[in-house]
Parts: sequence; structure tokens; C-alpha cells
Amino acid sequence: MSNTIQKNLDYKKYVVSSKLQYFKPHATKIQKTYAEEISSSLNRDSKFIDPKYFYDKKGSDLFEKICSLPEYYPTRTEISILKQLRDELPSYLDENFRLVELGSGTSVKTRLILDILVKLQDTTEYFPIDISEILTESSEQLLKDYDGLHITGLIDTYEGGLQFLKNFDDKKNLIIFLGSSFGNFSPNDGYKFLQKINSTMKHGDLFLIGLDLVKDKQILESAYDDSQGITAEFNLNILSRINDELDADFSLKNFSHYAIYNEKKQRVEMYLKSLVNQSVIVSKSNLLFNLEKDELILTEHSHKYKLSQISKLLHSTGFQIKQTWLDDKKHFSLTLASKN
Ligand code: AVJ
Repeated sequence: MSNTIQKNLDYKKYVVSSKLQYFKPHATKIQKTYAEEISSSLNRDSKFIDPKYFYDKKGSDLFEKICSLPEYYPTRTEISILKQLRDELPSYLDENFRLVELGSGTSVKTRLILDILVKLQDTTEYFPIDISEILTESSEQLLKDYDGLHITGLIDTYEGGLQFLKNFDDKKNLIIFLGSSFGNFSPNDGYKFLQKINSTMKHGDLFLIGLDLVKDKQILESAYDDSQGITAEFNLNILSRINDELDADFSLKNFSHYAIYNEKKQRVEMYLKSLVNQSVIVSKSNLLFNLEKDELILTEHSHKYKLSQISKLLHSTGFQIKQTWLDDKKHFSLTLASKN
């Protein structure tokens, strides 16, 4: 297959064992560096830091903590919905599905889906796509726990990983994108991303997406500003990371966590608020910039959806909805769709 040859040119294959291999792209892609990105996103009037920078080791640990906070309903709600799927998802599947996950499978959620698949087939293939190399650690743990599992990790961006998978073989893919991670996209970027997913799917493939729903402002705001201050710590940690990695001099005591639900835009907006007039140096970005007292640095948008918007969004990007599952309180949704 010429396809295979092409792939091998772009990716390097690492074989860890007969059950674990991973692919990493050759460093060919022209990408803005971390230092350049931070420089351009802070050197402007409305300052922002891309939320992808939350997830260094400390940030990933804090996010794990957020997931079990009493106020942070999404994770436990999505897990409860995934448990409903145990009886209902198999009717859409057969023995020929591989699990493809956008994001790496550190969580109990991947396992709930794997539990369903391993019952239907002797060997199950799992393709996590994640830019972070912790993918390899989480994979080793999964292999210990699931006998017939074969893992092929794609250490790449979601777009790159999906492209890799396109026309990979005839096996059907169940692509999952959980946790309402999609909510970080702007409406326009989200639309394009769904089109991208759709264009890499074969007829017969399935897509399962977890999306957080519009709800009471109070519930949303406390989910993103918890009483133990873990979300605040998570938000502020992005500055420590920049201090450590880009030789910056952010003084964390000069910032506070600020989260608000924007009802019109249907999104939680997270900011770091400057408590004083100050200037900050980011050495490796060659940047010195000023912040006024009360000035905000945007760190995250987390969009919330209405069911009618989810179906419109999916239909307009080439999907056909098979089924939507909700929890009792209608706080969170899982939608299964196929390519139209
Ligand atoms: C990982 C993007 C789904 O938006 O709820 C949690 C991240 N930020 N608390 C979310 C997050 C603050 C989370 N996502």
C-alpha cells in the first residue's frame, strides 16, 4: 500500500513490545514554539494564554484533583452516563471496532469503554492520540489490566493523529472525545475540528462525544471556582510554568483566579486578574510587558451547549446522530454519531 509507505516517511515507529507500539511524527512540522506563542499572546491589548499550557506535570495533577471536587460535576456525571452505555452501546458495535481516543487514556472513562469492547472481541485495539508522552505510561498500566489489548499510541496533535488514521485499514473505528474537552474550541474552530474528524472517518465508523450542557449560572461558576481553591491553584500554575520554562518573573501573589459564566456566549471564562500595576519579563520570549491593576489575562473558555445546538453542530459537519445519553439532571451529554 502506497499509503503505508507515505506514513512511514512521516512517522517514526517505536516498538515497545508485541502489544505496545507508538508512532511519533518526524520533527518536520513548522510550528510556532512555546516561547513565540507566549510572546504574541501576552504582547497585545487583550492578553491570553492558551489553555493547553495548563497541563505540565503539576497542572495535570491539579486537573485530576479538580475532577473529583464536589463542585466539579462534569467528570462524575460523564462517568455515570458511560455506565448507562454498558447495556446500550453494544447494539451499535460488532467485533470489528478499534477504540480511538482523542486524549490519552489515563482515566476510568477509557476503561468503561474498553470493558464494553473486550466483551465483544478476543483482541481489542486501542489507539490513543495525545501530544504528551505520558501516553506511554498510561498504556503500560492498561496492558496489565486488559489481556487481549493491543495499543498503538500516536504521539501527535489530534489533527495529525486523525490524518494518520485516515485510510489506515478497513477496521472500523470508534473515535471518542470525552470530558467536554471540545468546549475549549471557539465555535469556529470547533466547527472546523468536527469537519476534520468527519473527513477522516469511513462509513461505518462511529464518533462518541461528551459535551457539557448549559445550566444554572451558580452551578457553573462554583464548578470553576471551588471552595478549596484547587481550580485557582490550577489556573495560577500556568504562570509558574512560564516562570520555570521561559525564565519569566510572574509573582503569583500579584494575581487572582477569576471565573465567570458568560450567558450570552454560553461559556465559562477563566482569567488571571492582575492585583496591581506591574511589569513582567519573559526572558526566553524576549518580552517585557505591563499589566494594569484589574487587567485580565484570559486562560480558558469552556463552552456549554444546548441539545438542539449539539444536533445542529453535528448535522452541519456531516454526522448523523445515533443516540444521545444524559444524566437525570441533564447536566452532561454523550452523543454517538456516524458519518452521514
Ligand atoms: C479539560 C477543558 C474539559 O473546561 O471543564 C476544569 C478544564 N478548567 N476546570 C473544563 C477545566 C477548569 C476542563 N476541560
